[in-house]
Amino acid sequence: MIAILGAGSMGRLWAAMLPAGQVAFVPRPGQMPDPVCYRFQAIEGKSLSVTIPWLQPGQSPELLLVTTKAGDTLEALKDALPSIASSTPIVLFQNGLGSQQQVSETWPQRPVLAASTTEGANRPAPGLTVHAGCGATWVGALNPTGQPLVNRVAQQLAKSGLEVHPEQDILGRLWQKLVINAGINAFTAILDCPNGAILKQPYYQQWINPLCEEISRLLAAAGQPQQTPEALRESIEAVARKTAANTSSMRADVLTGRPTEIDFINGYLARLGQQHGIATPVNQMLTEQVQQLN
Ligand code: PAF
Repeated sequence: MIAILGAGSMGRLWAAMLPAGQVAFVPRPGQMPDPVCYRFQAIEGKSLSVTIPWLQPGQSPELLLVTTKAGDTLEALKDALPSIASSTPIVLFQNGLGSQQQVSETWPQRPVLAASTTEGANRPAPGLTVHAGCGATWVGALNPTGQPLVNRVAQQLAKSGLEVHPEQDILGRLWQKLVINAGINAFTAILDCPNGAILKQPYYQQWINPLCEEISRLLAAAGQPQQTPEALRESIEAVARKTAANTSSMRADVLTGRPTEIDFINGYLARLGQQHGIATPVNQMLTEQVQQLN
């Protein structure tokens, strides 16, 4: 049995793709006892009806996937973990950085892994989950207890039929994704436009170079491979062009009134700058502007 904590788009994607009958959602306090039912539209357009039960008291999952929003993760795990065996690997799917470290520091004895995925899923209507973009998922250990379990966890996730790779440097991969999110998401939320449309906006053009200079210095301070501001801008804009018509997750959160993950993206970078004595006024400004949108 694979347990999934967080029944949002990503949780529902994995629940629908993993072998039927082997998945359960972890109930949050006060959640309804009825199973979770939804239509799932696969990438090739085929639609099927999915019913996922809740994990029952006494059931012992072999794996726990955590697909909550970054800001909910610590509290959700504090509720869930007391009834889950301490040997069960925890796989964190959160965007950005900061929440993963909080979890591995709070439960240092548990095997904690992280996943970075380029799979796209959304919920355009209540009761409908769409697998919108086919990508790949990398999974790697965040602490020494998780290290020996990486290959086994990757094999378990690959039973979904999705592309899954074991990753020795998962922190590096999370950083690469963080850089892209830091350069796209806040701009799309503030400017209220699809990813590709930021590129021509004067506000983006004014701030992207100083933002990339901050990120370049932060990468070095965090022990990540050095990248020039120009190379960072190029990677950000390549993704913005490739996903030009997409609404970023942060813009979608603002439009639907959900809390954003800004504190774990530009907010994380601003905090890291404070720790290392690196000025991060652009990350700070973007963080504050997105917080005001909420
Ligand atoms: O957060 C998102 O929406 C995506 O990671 C990205 C890269 C901005 C593309 O939409």
